[in-house]
Amino acid sequence: MLTESDVISSVGIVGAGLMGRRLAGLVASAGIAVTLVEPVPEVLASGLAAARAMAPQGTIVGTASIDEGVASSSFVIEAIVEDLATKQVLFAEMADVNADAVLCSNSSVLPISEISRSVKDGSRCIGTHFWNPPDLIPIVEVVRGKRTSESTVDRTVAFLAGIGKLPVRVERDVPGFVGNRLQHALWREAIDLVATGVCDAETVDLVVKNTIGLRLGQMGPIENADYVGLDLTLAIHEAVLPDICRDPHPSPHLRALVDRGDCGAKSGQGFLRWAPGSRDQAADRLATHIRTQLADPNR
Ligand SMILES: NC(=O)c1ccc[n+]([C@@H]2O[C@H](COP(=O)([O-])OP(=O)(O)OC[C@H]3O[C@@H](n4cnc5c(N)ncnc54)[C@H](O)[C@@H]3O)[C@@H](O)[C@H]2O)c1
Repeated sequence: MLTESDVISSVGIVGAGLMGRRLAGLVASAGIAVTLVEPVPEVLASGLAAARAMAPQGTIVGTASIDEGVASSSFVIEAIVEDLATKQVLFAEMADVNADAVLCSNSSVLPISEISRSVKDGSRCIGTHFWNPPDLIPIVEVVRGKRTSESTVDRTVAFLAGIGKLPVRVERDVPGFVGNRLQHALWREAIDLVATGVCDAETVDLVVKNTIGLRLGQMGPIENADYVGLDLTLAIHEAVLPDICRDPHPSPHLRALVDRGDCGAKSGQGFLRWAPGSRDQAADRLATHIRTQLADPNR
């Protein structure tokens, strides 16, 4: 249940990278004062500029000090590198600085129970998995760790709804939560289809964009299974599941690309070739597409 003390006047965001700066802009747009914490001065400067451009009327201050960013905040959202040990150190530090704040992690896949392992009061630690770009994608996965209390879940859901997001409850902190488990099950198969020569990389994306991609915004896999019939779904699973990739490790093909430096858009070559400037164009294309879909009154 929400109490008067749940009126949130300030939020700390730790990490001013791709996600942190947009989270700062998002929270400040809702009229909440934000302190953005970032150790790299030039990243802090560009992060502050980007966040302030998103929330011109908002209050956003920047600092390199965890103490300053966390001490007086009701909620803190961690958005630093996706490295368990680094996040564990930060969570212990944040808990020392502020004994009351709800400590949230924006990790995409790491369980909050692991991230908050060394925090004495784990009841106030929770996963808040925003998707990129966090100001556009409505859903935030609210991930309950083994020690997260019911009141922390309720307060976090209320906070997120208050800043205009659509929070969903994830009751166990399995790696990847809900969305990334689904997404990477698809990506594993996509990479395997290319690696085993079933089709080329362009064909995988062409098929996805012009088949399931056209449906997914309107009908999720559970409703779709009911819609086509569970008897048909069962028959399809009997025929296809034995042949779908079940490798519990990343594809050797993916590893080989990374090992030779072909990391995708950022290096100019991945599965596909990326000309200079094409990564920014892809970001714009994606944002326009997301805005168009969200504006559709029939969704
Ligand atoms: N990029 C995405 O699409 C995306 C989507 C959803 C969730 N996430 C998650 O959000 C988190 C941040 O991702 P990102 O893409 O913004 O990363 P990023 O690399 O762009 O930014 C991370 C920032 O954190 C800073 N940092 C590192 N250690 C720090 C510390 N101890 N204290 C304060 N700042 C520190 C770094 O200097 C860097 O500027 C990760 O956990 C990631 O998995 C990312």
